[in-house]
Amino acid sequence: MAVNMSRWFICLLLIFKECRASTHWVVTEDGKIQPQLDSTFSLKRPYDLLALMEQEKRAIEVEELKQKLIIQKEEIDRREDKETNLEGKIYATDEDCVAAEKPLTDFDLYASTVVPFPPYKQFGDEFTEYAETMDLDIIFKKPNCSEIADLDFSMHAFEHLSSVRDRQNLTMTAEIGLHHAVTTVENIQLYGHLVYEFLQKNKTSWILFDMAAYYWRIHGDAAAAIECTRRALHFSPREFKDVTLINLGNILHLSHMSEEAAIVVHAAVDIAPNNAICHFTLGNIYAVLADYNKSAICFENAVKIQPDFTNAAQRYHAVMCHSKLEKALEAQHISLQRTLTELREYQKQHENWVRQSEKLISEQAPPEVKLEQRLEYEEQKIRESLDGRGQDCFQFEQNGHMVLSCNMRRETYTSAQSQVDLSLNLQLLQAVESKAGKLGQKVINAKTSEQCHRT
Ligand SMILES: *[C@@H]1O[C@H](CO)[C@@H](O)[C@H](O)[C@H]1NC(C)=O
Ligand SMILES: *[C@@H]1O[C@H](CO)[C@@H](O)[C@H](O)[C@H]1NC(C)=O
Ligand SMILES: *[C@@H]1O[C@H](CO)[C@@H](O)[C@H](O)[C@H]1NC(C)=O
Ligand SMILES: *[C@@H]1O[C@H](CO)[C@@H](O)[C@H](O)[C@H]1NC(C)=O
Repeated sequence: MAVNMSRWFICLLLIFKECRASTHWVVTEDGKIQPQLDSTFSLKRPYDLLALMEQEKRAIEVEELKQKLIIQKEEIDRREDKETNLEGKIYATDEDCVAAEKPLTDFDLYASTVVPFPPYKQFGDEFTEYAETMDLDIIFKKPNCSEIADLDFSMHAFEHLSSVRDRQNLTMTAEIGLHHAVTTVENIQLYGHLVYEFLQKNKTSWILFDMAAYYWRIHGDAAAAIECTRRALHFSPREFKDVTLINLGNILHLSHMSEEAAIVVHAAVDIAPNNAICHFTLGNIYAVLADYNKSAICFENAVKIQPDFTNAAQRYHAVMCHSKLEKALEAQHISLQRTLTELREYQKQHENWVRQSEKLISEQAPPEVKLEQRLEYEEQKIRESLDGRGQDCFQFEQNGHMVLSCNMRRETYTSAQSQVDLSLNLQLLQAVESKAGKLGQKVINAKTSEQCHRT
């Protein structure tokens, strides 16, 4: 709309002294006759200069508000946070997500890991031979490490960790799957009994203590398992401590003490930097701790050491994917929150604009009296002025008639409202509100779902 403040309107007033009421005309520049009715400045109280000034101020305000609203609305519409399936899009297009084949949340980040014993230390054959000589109808004994050897304190057993110190309080999930990873003995109770019997013969064998710990891990008894690893750590030579440290690290991780598990597994990495399983275990722990940078480095190291470790490679991609996904979701969430705040602000401004516009209109006289009032007003001003010129009008003679020419610098504002749709779709506001809320929940969930078990 042409809001051209400097456009000139020429109002020609033919004044017939005898019959004034019937001779009020407005003639435009090009000679067309039309009543000048829609001026914002045709007031109910045209004689009231203060009201006129007030109306002028209001008109400018309304116009400014409208311009502001238009800009705001465009900005909100441009915002790139409307993507409804950001997650799906990233999973389908990001190269790490594609390489991972499935989301990080579908990987078992509590997968049991075991470092094999040095080959010459395995008890496989000895166990089999011993089992053949045994009466299998007896009640199998359990490898209770506290009963086998007293150990109040050990320098090597990470007793400064609260989870080791308060091991009685731990609860862990039973590692059923560990059974076939650590022994060929089918009956797990028989396996426990064999470990018990062999420990009776050698009460300082770190390998047997580790084996006892496996027995308790399979049964999900964290406290009993830690008792065994404490003794294993106490008796094992430094170069083999990674076996027991990974054992202990698993127990703590599966007891949801992952931060302390990370400390223990770091010690394992220090001792055996070329053991891919140590890096892999640490990668899982950091993924659970939502420390994706470190997790990715660990999985990367595992693959460097052992290039055919495809499970580690897949997890590396899954972690990278998840990290990017979380960042994108968080960014979208923040953007949506901002949009929401702006929409609320917009709504307030819009209501204000509507109120001001209504006021602007209500202060105007009804159309049918506007013209008359305007002319009376100008006439009065001319009568009062000494030089015959009104504030915006002047009189001159033309073709024997007295003519009043008025310069109206201001145009109308009233019709602006209907030209631009500035009203806010409330459904949009509600949709953004609900989306931002849901996304916020999702971001929080993504951050805590894996950590919420931690005590
Ligand atoms: C091991 O033996 C100790 C001492 O007899 C006992 O307190 C503890 O409950 C036993 N642990 C298990 C798992 O049976
Ligand atoms: C472990 O449990 C005991 C007894 O239930 C309690 O007094 C102690 O505060 C707990 N320790 C931790 C670290 O939760
Ligand atoms: C007990 O086991 C340890 C470690 O396996 C070994 O070094 C030690 O010689 C064994 N002791 C006996 C008496 O067999
Ligand atoms: C992870 O790495 C990226 C890029 O290397 C860095 O921008 C970001 O701050 C890191 N995050 C953490 C938690 O260290």
